[in-house]
Amino acid sequence: MYRFNRIIAATALAGTAWCGAVQAQGTVEVLHWWTSGGEAKAVGELKNAFEERGGEWIDSPIAGGGGDAAMTALRARVVSGKPPTAVQLKGPGIQEWAEQGALNDVETVAGEENWDQVLPPALAGIMKYEGDYVAAPVNIHRVDWIWANPDVLEEAGVDAMPTTWAEFNAAADKVEAAGKIALAHGGQPWQDATIFEVVVLGVGGPEFFRDALVDLDQEALTSDTMVASFEQLRKLRGYVDPNFSGRDWNLATAMVMRGDAAFQIMGDWAKGEFLAAGKVPGEDFLCAAAPGDGFVLNSDSFTFFKVSGEERLQGQQVLASLIMSPGFQETFNLAKGSIPARTDVALDKFDMCAKRSHDDLVAAIEGDTLVPSMAHEMAVPRSVRGEFLDLVTEFFNSDMSAEDATQSLAEAVTRAQQ
Ligand code: GAL
Repeated sequence: MYRFNRIIAATALAGTAWCGAVQAQGTVEVLHWWTSGGEAKAVGELKNAFEERGGEWIDSPIAGGGGDAAMTALRARVVSGKPPTAVQLKGPGIQEWAEQGALNDVETVAGEENWDQVLPPALAGIMKYEGDYVAAPVNIHRVDWIWANPDVLEEAGVDAMPTTWAEFNAAADKVEAAGKIALAHGGQPWQDATIFEVVVLGVGGPEFFRDALVDLDQEALTSDTMVASFEQLRKLRGYVDPNFSGRDWNLATAMVMRGDAAFQIMGDWAKGEFLAAGKVPGEDFLCAAAPGDGFVLNSDSFTFFKVSGEERLQGQQVLASLIMSPGFQETFNLAKGSIPARTDVALDKFDMCAKRSHDDLVAAIEGDTLVPSMAHEMAVPRSVRGEFLDLVTEFFNSDMSAEDATQSLAEAVTRAQQ
């Protein structure tokens, strides 16, 4: 049976041998969107490690959670014939750029380091185009988390983290009655889509999630379960404060940290913010899987665009090897809030939330309840994701009924596929 954390000793040896052969040099210009406190700390680890190997790092951060602004900047760079050397990209986006012939592969490094044997198959498949590795994964983020401030919960008389949406609503009502904001949220399309997909998982379960948000099955998209999901999203909208519009996700996390709000529903990059602020899980903040079975997968990875010049080509190979090195995977993920993409990195130094993530991931792989994130570009092409984001945001910011939202969503998805 597949075990996420089993060590395949031969792989580690092969990896070491390859690292020794790489010249510690090269230049990379890295386009990414990691600019919040926790994110910047994590990408700083990558920069430092690359520079320690003698490389030159040119930083190209494009602020904007979820990466939509970064993807727009990337297109402009490619159109102008000057792509960055390395780009934070994910899911079908990797395939889309590879299909256009824009990516170099890192197959030599991947082969010599046996990536196939240290990555979960579900992740390895996403990193490959026509059988060759064109991306190197840095982490596994889980999207379906609820974060909470324990003091706010205590003051409101909420004695446990909610395990169903009904419990969540009851807890949120108590928090509001105690005079605090129940749900810290930032009104940006990708954040709205994040809480939407978490609700879909909780209301419909992983199979429904897959049918509706991955396979885009019309029956699922038009079902009563989708109506019920929008109804719960409407409930959540009611728990958000009036100033949510346009707020960045990390500012929403800060509201929970400060005790202005009780909950945030967000992926575990939020944990990176808590940790960067010196907060301790289980004491200063709580983590719990959002209601429902399953695990919504989001993995960050880097791709290597077609560039010219020995230094840059060398930089791509060195960066790919570095990203997948066990030591780096540990350091980076301790800061980022995620867990290593490699299956053979010990989690001793990781906190209870990370260990929970790992255990739930193993269970989800075994139980076939692992689902890729729609909101975080792991599931569907960007064009389809765009339709989801537009509709969910419109729903969130209007009094559209759940029935109308369901119908409009199904139509929009059909249009995007034509
Ligand atoms: C996600 C990304 C995370 C985190 C988040 C907020 O899409 O995978 O690493 O950065 O956006 O910016």
